[in-house]
Amino acid sequence: MRRAPALLLANIGQLLTLRSAAPGPRRGASLSDLGILEDAAVLCLGGKIVSVGKTKDALRDPWLKKNRKKITEIDCRDRVVLPGFVDSHTHPVFAQPRLVDFEKRIGGVSYEGIAEAGGGIRSSINGVRNATKLALTEKLITALRDMANHGTTTVEAKSGYGLSFDSELKSLEAIRSAAKHWPGTVIPTFLGAHAVPPEFQGRSQEYVDLVWQRMMPAVAKRKLAHFADVFCDRGAFSAEEAEQIFRAAHEHGIALRAHMGQLTETRLEPLLRFQPASLDHMDFVNDADLPTLARSDTIATFVPGANYFLGLTRYPKARQFIEAGVAVALATDYNPGSSPTLSMPMAMSLACTHMKMFPAEAIAAATINGAWALRLADRKGSVEAGKDADLALFDVRDYREIAYWFGVNRCALTILNGHVSGMSSA
Ligand code: NIG
Ligand code: FE
Repeated sequence: MRRAPALLLANIGQLLTLRSAAPGPRRGASLSDLGILEDAAVLCLGGKIVSVGKTKDALRDPWLKKNRKKITEIDCRDRVVLPGFVDSHTHPVFAQPRLVDFEKRIGGVSYEGIAEAGGGIRSSINGVRNATKLALTEKLITALRDMANHGTTTVEAKSGYGLSFDSELKSLEAIRSAAKHWPGTVIPTFLGAHAVPPEFQGRSQEYVDLVWQRMMPAVAKRKLAHFADVFCDRGAFSAEEAEQIFRAAHEHGIALRAHMGQLTETRLEPLLRFQPASLDHMDFVNDADLPTLARSDTIATFVPGANYFLGLTRYPKARQFIEAGVAVALATDYNPGSSPTLSMPMAMSLACTHMKMFPAEAIAAATINGAWALRLADRKGSVEAGKDADLALFDVRDYREIAYWFGVNRCALTILNGHVSGMSSA
């Protein structure tokens, strides 16, 4: 990637800095504190934010006056700028949409019913197994560009539709190649334990052994993943199987996250002992686990796109989590089965309308707490000197409009590690 240019964003109507007064992820009332600066400017050099302040002060700065010709200036025309979204949960390595599942659900079959009949995650396997690494990489690059167009600058990307030694490694290699062609930041996650593939039907433990004894060491040796994930639920993997995978990941120095409570409740305490960075979905959680979760640094990541797309009326109980002091994040869960959206503003809109999160809370959950969910909060998720130059400009005057206008894209410009994307529409 070429060197990022010097950039000055000036005349920002509302700059949501998300700078924090206290250390750690946002919880409770602090989730609503966006650190808004009006008439603001941000200076970025070499892919980093170097100063944040009022436009008039920035323009008086002697260094800036002297170097103004070398700086690309973006007049934000009183619109809203915020940290680029951190989408901390996506499954972007797939070959085709799942239109048959879509129609079956419309006809009344449930997500689990479709999976039991051989559809669901298993019906995405052949597409990935038959695809070349190049074809997967190209699809992924298109998705990453689309994400940037919607304001996302950091993406967690999971494998999990190959479900064989070769196809899981191929998926992770495709993530690595695509990341090199995108100016944003991609965090790879190994999700070999997404479903038991058909050839291991009825021999789930043998597949789990393959995941932790053969795939995990190869993933670690080739440094292909920052995280390991497990789909821990009815019809997927048990808490005991998840523990086996967590233990192996831990031994290989790979950090942990899991899909939990999407379909049924699993007690969290045994898995929290492994200090996962995030537990995701969390539709079904035992109330008694919330205080333990609140005392931990594990983030609860909600993915309401999945509830919406599966036509559910039940959503995670975000208010209960926030009131208990749990640090919550929002992500798209972009995938072909349960959530084919890559729009973080759509996830935020759903969180506001269906989970009663306030727009300010949704923004903190989609930025700084997403960064905590990926253990990247030292670099991402807020607009502060020293952090990566990841910013999104929205064509709105008030930050609440980002979650308010649903089904349209109001993102005018995105800056990814100092590289400008979408300039023509700004
Ligand atoms: O997060 N629940 C597990 N994984 C995905 C769905 C994957 C699929 O249906 O393809 C999810 O919703
Ligand atoms: Fe998921």
